[in-house]
Amino acid sequence: MSNPEEVMFPRRKERFEDRRKEGDQRKLADEFFDHRTLLAISALITQGQFEALDFPIMTGKEGGVFRASGAGGYRAVKVYRIGNTIFRNLPAYALEELRREASGANHARMIYGWTRREHTVLRRLAAAGVPCPEPYGYLRNILVMQFVGTDGLAAPRLQDVPIDDPERLYVDLLLLVRKLVYDAKLVHGDLSPYNILFHDGHPVLIDVAQSVPVEHPAARGLLVRDITHFARYLQKLGVDTSPERFQAAVDELPAAE
Ligand SMILES: Nc1ncnc2c1ncn2[C@@H]1O[C@H](COP(=O)(O)OP(=O)(O)OP(=O)(O)O)[C@@H](O)[C@H]1O
Ligand SMILES: [Mg+2]
Repeated sequence: MSNPEEVMFPRRKERFEDRRKEGDQRKLADEFFDHRTLLAISALITQGQFEALDFPIMTGKEGGVFRASGAGGYRAVKVYRIGNTIFRNLPAYALEELRREASGANHARMIYGWTRREHTVLRRLAAAGVPCPEPYGYLRNILVMQFVGTDGLAAPRLQDVPIDDPERLYVDLLLLVRKLVYDAKLVHGDLSPYNILFHDGHPVLIDVAQSVPVEHPAARGLLVRDITHFARYLQKLGVDTSPERFQAAVDELPAAE
């Protein structure tokens, strides 16, 4: 008991801690839900997209994904933080395109462009039959999509879930990549067990904003990298594959339907 203040005001430090925690929370809330974001959420509610945000499924540096609910059931709502540098890890080609789309380097406008892009890609994937959340709408930095989960609980990422039947997963992932490349004519560019959810025993592709069309100069390199991530992951599960073999299976001409 060396500090007399602590003896006289035993709860003072605690209260200070509480206040710090509150402050942190407020800071988080401010970063996420700045005025513009709140207005956009309110507009989406008015549109009837959902009635309330229930809780965060995950929050990170670049944004957060929330479960929302409404008359139509659950929705997943992805909020990109405006006040953050989501573009730090972005490959140069994507940044360049985004600047062009946003006609300038205005940060907020670039984030809005990014959100719209994720919506557009999801539409294209869904139309091509690639398993992904169906997109329902977007406004500014907010994307509304199908909630992937069971009984209100979000599906886990492939990374976090034990796989009972790795061979079946191999076939599923191969089909997913083939649909992506041959039907949607896109390369994801950030494929990994972190960006795939495991729902009802099957993979569902998420986090698609950085995807590029197959004719893009960077596409082939990105595809090779994506495939390498999958092949390594499958090898760890005991599947007899390799980046080269997975690639060869993807490259085989799809059977005519
Ligand atoms: N449609 C959805 N339904 C259920 N959960 C989802 C959905 N979309 C995303 N999630 C959850 O939110 C997490 C983050 O989503 P996503 O990967 O799209 O965002 P991110 O900003 O790229 O995050 P990270 O940087 O962690 O990859 C996912 O790992 C998943 O747990
Ligand atoms: Mg992600």
